Amino acid sequence: MPQMPNLQIGELIAKLPIVQGGMSVGISLSGLAAAVANEGGIGVIGAAGIGFLENGFDQHPFQSNMDALKNEIRKAREMTDGLIGVNVMKALTDYDNLVKVSIKEKVDAVFIGAGLPLRIPGRLDLSEFKKMKTKIIPIVSSANTVKTLFTYWEKNYKKLPDAVVVEGTEAGGHLGFTEHDIIDGSINLMDIVNQVKETVEDFAKRMRSSIPVIAAGGIFSGKDIFDAMKNGANGVQMATRFVATKECDASDEFKQAYIDAKEEDIVIIKSPVGLPGRAIKNEFLKSVSDGTGGDTFCTWKCLRTCRMSKAQYCIGRALANAKIGLLKEGFAFAGKNAFRVDKIMTVKELIELLMKEYAEAESGESTVDGQ
Ligand SMILES: Cc1cc2nc3c(=O)[nH]c(=O)nc-3n(C[C@H](O)[C@H](O)[C@H](O)COP(=O)(O)O)c2cc1C
Repeated sequence: MPQMPNLQIGELIAKLPIVQGGMSVGISLSGLAAAVANEGGIGVIGAAGIGFLENGFDQHPFQSNMDALKNEIRKAREMTDGLIGVNVMKALTDYDNLVKVSIKEKVDAVFIGAGLPLRIPGRLDLSEFKKMKTKIIPIVSSANTVKTLFTYWEKNYKKLPDAVVVEGTEAGGHLGFTEHDIIDGSINLMDIVNQVKETVEDFAKRMRSSIPVIAAGGIFSGKDIFDAMKNGANGVQMATRFVATKECDASDEFKQAYIDAKEEDIVIIKSPVGLPGRAIKNEFLKSVSDGTGGDTFCTWKCLRTCRMSKAQYCIGRALANAKIGLLKEGFAFAGKNAFRVDKIMTVKELIELLMKEYAEAESGESTVDGQ
């Protein structure tokens, strides 16, 4: 039976080419990340707002986030010998703190989204940065940003990012595109993946390294994984599909919102941080859009880009409420394909299904080729 190839990032080898996308404010913690890592993928803990539900968060938000991240990394390590990463958003006010904790705890990879990490991540000194084993993997939406970042790193650090995740318009959470481009639907993920591949290959050749490119956004089935890899991706990052798993760290109510969602319920919202986002429509989102709901209480400006004076609600608190099942006071981020989720399964069952679908897609292809 045809098998998925592995994903090699420097000396790291993931048995499966599947990265579980980081989902912050408590959706992907040690439970989900370890389960994915145990099946051979890369399990990723979402770091943003990870301490939101800890005692003392309102008094010491930065410390709570660092402590909670350290605990989740350690818990994940106890549950798996597989590969564990952390997702940190560059736009966070405690971005450096969270990257530092991740590197100190020796995670396998730090995935950096929502901004370009030009400065040395975690403000390490150059020699520490060059020696460290933790892989740094930016999440980007265009080849131009990759060129800017790689040019800067090559010139200033003589080092390149270890891999790149290319996230397209079908992803969940905050998106790096204009609302017009997202709704228009004409931007093709695999076109960007191939433009990014071409860009990184020039740098990789000069620096004698190899830089895998990972496709993200809307990848749902094993056939989607096969198609992405056939069209040039070295791996895929999937998030939405992992929400409806037994091990996902969100509440049952959050998972049920995915199962109940119909295609027309998956909408683009204007997030208070100034970026568009994709989420499941609900009463809470309706009340903030018509100006009757939302709570702006904030003890911590989590995102640099949050316009607190203009915000109608605190997005961190709304997402934390959703994580624990209070969907009347919050909402669930979700990818474009969330409406296709129809049941909860274990991570093991999901991975087995993806492998079966992948093998069927590959066999189908070779039958067609052989005719
Ligand atoms: C509930 C949820 C939370 C997310 N949180 C983050 C995050 O904190 N940081 C980030 O870089 N991406 C985040 N994402 C994006 C995912 O990591 C992933 O790249 C994307 O959703 C992939 O598309 P898919 O959901 O269609 O598989 C989130 C996505 C979802 C669905």
